[in-house]
Amino acid sequence: MATYLIYNFAVYFKSLHNPILKSWSPKLLAHHERTFISWKNLVKCPTTKGGTGGGAKKQISPRRLFKIYRYGGIAQKGVPKMQTFELDVSKCGPMVLDAMIKLKDMDPTFTFRRSCREGICGSCAICLQGKNCLACITAIPKAKTITLHPLPHMYVLRDLVVDMTHFLNQYNSIRPYLIRKSTPRSMGQFQYAQSDADWHKFVGLYECVLCACCATSCPSYWWNGRRFLGPASLLHAYRWVIDSRDEDTFNRLCDLRDDFKAFRCHTILNCALACPKGLNPGLAIARLKRLITGLDKKPPPEFDPLKLRSGSGSGKPSLEECIKAKLKKKKC
Ligand code: SF4
Ligand code: SF4
Ligand code: FES
Repeated sequence: MATYLIYNFAVYFKSLHNPILKSWSPKLLAHHERTFISWKNLVKCPTTKGGTGGGAKKQISPRRLFKIYRYGGIAQKGVPKMQTFELDVSKCGPMVLDAMIKLKDMDPTFTFRRSCREGICGSCAICLQGKNCLACITAIPKAKTITLHPLPHMYVLRDLVVDMTHFLNQYNSIRPYLIRKSTPRSMGQFQYAQSDADWHKFVGLYECVLCACCATSCPSYWWNGRRFLGPASLLHAYRWVIDSRDEDTFNRLCDLRDDFKAFRCHTILNCALACPKGLNPGLAIARLKRLITGLDKKPPPEFDPLKLRSGSGSGKPSLEECIKAKLKKKKC
């Protein structure tokens, strides 16, 4: 642990001055920076046992007040209200989701979404102390009073559960899948090759978990959410446009050539501040706009995507044929 922290510390400070390290993936540097900052906090934290927080006197009480948005849904015909719970956070895990699960033990009617508890399903997105986050990877704040709201500007189904239908329909509208025109559609028949450099263009894009933290903190999305696609869908649109294996770039860009779908983004960058995965949808949108307007062109793929082609016409057996042959051998 100590070696890892020292390594992070060294990389973070070196990166501030070294041009080679500066050119590393900004995500990697951000990771080192985050680790260094959390290490700093760990050392400073007066309640941390074994910490070197010299001079720290004030103990933070583990008893916290949780003010939670409660709404029974349209069927209940009630009005939304804030309910207060008192919880000793030393008796639950360190994350906000742990506290929420403890609160649900106290009041089983309290409703929220969660699934993976490790920041990869995107379902536990909430508004904590006025800032969107994923409850499972956010530490319980040190404040005495902690407020939990559902994601802003979304229709609330119940308590912290919001209606994601429109958000996901917008995501579907960008056709988030590979489209090939020169090869027939048949499952398992082709592998599409991609060079390392082409793959690295996805770094900072593929990590998106569709939690909607960015879209629901974007002022343009609040005002024009029906027609503006929002940062998450546009980040994915950019990811598919720049995919070296995709052959529908022209139609994808034409679909976005509209006053609202992409051009309502004014590069306010609230989305980048809100993203719990450290992504920058605003930057992806800026690059996408350049492609839409023709200022930039998508470069040709470094590898022929059919380099690994196998199956009918290529002289090599397809994946399905290989599996069938293996099964036949086993039967014999
Ligand atoms: S950069 Fe664009 S998408 Fe992101 S918050 Fe600002 S307006 Fe919204
Ligand atoms: S870009 Fe970030 S905030 Fe937006 S949906 Fe993806 S993971 Fe969530
Ligand atoms: S529970 Fe899956 S991201 Fe939080």
